[in-house]
Amino acid sequence: MSNKTRWYKDSFIYQIYPRSFCDSNGDGIGDIQGIISKLDYIKDLGAKAIWLSPIYKSPNYDNGYDISDYRDISPEFGTLDDFKTLVAEMRKRDLKLIMDLVVNHTSFEHKWFLKSKESTDNEYRDYYFWRKGRGKNGKKPPNNWTSRFGGSAWTYDEKTKEWYLHLFTKEQPDLNWDNPKVRKEVEDIVNYWLDLGVDGFRCDVITYISKREGLPNGKWGLLSRGDEHFTHGPNIHKYLNELNKNGFSNKDTMIVGEGAGVTLEQAIIYTNEENEELDNVFHFEHMETDFYKQAIPRKFKLKNLKKVFSKWQLGLLQKGWNSLYFENHDFPRSLGRFTGDYKDKRVEAAKMLAISLYMQQGTPYIYQGQEIGMTNYTFSNISEFQDVLVQNIRSVFGVFEPIFRPLIFKILKIRARDNARTPMQWDASENAGFTEGKPWFYINPNYTTINVENELEDKNSILNFYKKLIQYRLGNEVLINGYYKEYEGKNKDLHVYMRNYNGVSILVVCNYKNKEVPFKPNPETANKNCKLVLHNYNYDRPILEPMTLRPYEALVYELNKPKNS
Ligand code: GLC
Ligand code: CA
Repeated sequence: MSNKTRWYKDSFIYQIYPRSFCDSNGDGIGDIQGIISKLDYIKDLGAKAIWLSPIYKSPNYDNGYDISDYRDISPEFGTLDDFKTLVAEMRKRDLKLIMDLVVNHTSFEHKWFLKSKESTDNEYRDYYFWRKGRGKNGKKPPNNWTSRFGGSAWTYDEKTKEWYLHLFTKEQPDLNWDNPKVRKEVEDIVNYWLDLGVDGFRCDVITYISKREGLPNGKWGLLSRGDEHFTHGPNIHKYLNELNKNGFSNKDTMIVGEGAGVTLEQAIIYTNEENEELDNVFHFEHMETDFYKQAIPRKFKLKNLKKVFSKWQLGLLQKGWNSLYFENHDFPRSLGRFTGDYKDKRVEAAKMLAISLYMQQGTPYIYQGQEIGMTNYTFSNISEFQDVLVQNIRSVFGVFEPIFRPLIFKILKIRARDNARTPMQWDASENAGFTEGKPWFYINPNYTTINVENELEDKNSILNFYKKLIQYRLGNEVLINGYYKEYEGKNKDLHVYMRNYNGVSILVVCNYKNKEVPFKPNPETANKNCKLVLHNYNYDRPILEPMTLRPYEALVYELNKPKNS
């Protein structure tokens, strides 16, 4: 067994999307020096670690998730020296650093790929998946797999007259992990960054790295084909275990895997401590309660969200470890998504979501701007989207795109990843204090009211509430280790649950609706011997008794505690 301290079980991890966080030199793009200038802010929030979306060299077809040099920093973000300063400044503040590790694929500009495509027999050919096409003259792709971003997962290359596999855009060719040399390269990359002082990795689409031998055709699916042959593929656990042994476990790390397609059963295997693979995974089930397969809008029902919560809270208890998140750079903002139309109750709704999520078991993640209640951007034209995924979706429709455009736009307005990628709103000055130049992307016009500076001053702000909630959670054994039990499972408006540990219980009551909702404690939850510890309204609810909850009202009570403790 490794000697890991498992510090991530008692932490908050703050995710930075560097391009949109803070620009130090006026070129309109966030950068490392900008991050350094905000470390005190992150520390003050109470976070223990930062997960940094990719800052490596990249031609930026997918904003850094297409890496052309794993050992260097993209010039737009700074230099390796800036990075070293960042690590040193974080150390000073006792902040840990989690880097994104994007090794399912490289950029098509990575030197391995450039060499690989030169001939059919060069030493890098097997770093990727090159295959002959099917049909007459090999003009049909080798199999029917689709890219996660739409269209075939194969692109033909004239030079050697073969096709290469890419589960994302054609600028992101998939690495062949069955080649031991590739696995060794990844180990070396991991150790290179560990030596530079990083404390862990967020492993991008790590569930896709092992492909079934022979790359067989996938069964028919409406939105994608081939998944069953590369999601938790045949050697995934072996490869992760190996990478853990030769890389991840060389330090007191935290490794979180992006668990595309992860089931509870698989998550247990990935995150069970004895297996020594990953420490936690991001599953997507709660992110699909309002988007079928994360893509097609459907009516959000609280009941479905609660079912997902219960399933994962109970399912991983003492068997694995959860991660708690509502936002990241791949999804729209949570406000509005899970709360319905919050109208003038943005502050109450955002605090309620925080309580509902972060009193559960697992490692909490906060995505930049979530802590000030940033909202989706109002896009007014399809050409405003920047994300490569949008271009890909549109091209899938081919000549019919103009006909479908209004529908595509309607969906993207609420679903596009761009919604969460607008620059961080620091203050009410021009460009929200994000840059002194021309920002690379639109700034949400609501920055004049929704911004860090305002929220720091307002003692009832979302930001100050997050700080309070974080302080309450850190070191709290009931919240770290306690059992999760749901009440009012059938209630369409309320999320009610209890955490129990060593005779102490914490009861959480959340009204997800923008209306008054009655709550009646049952014999188990009614308890006069209780203390209200977190609340998103400014009045007291000293005892647990039948009550009418205000719109989005959320309460956290400690039970079984002597009255005046
Ligand atoms: C992950 C990243 C996403 C990226 C994709 C391909 O899902 O979070 O931003 O586009 O992988 O690397
Ligand atoms: Ca810059």
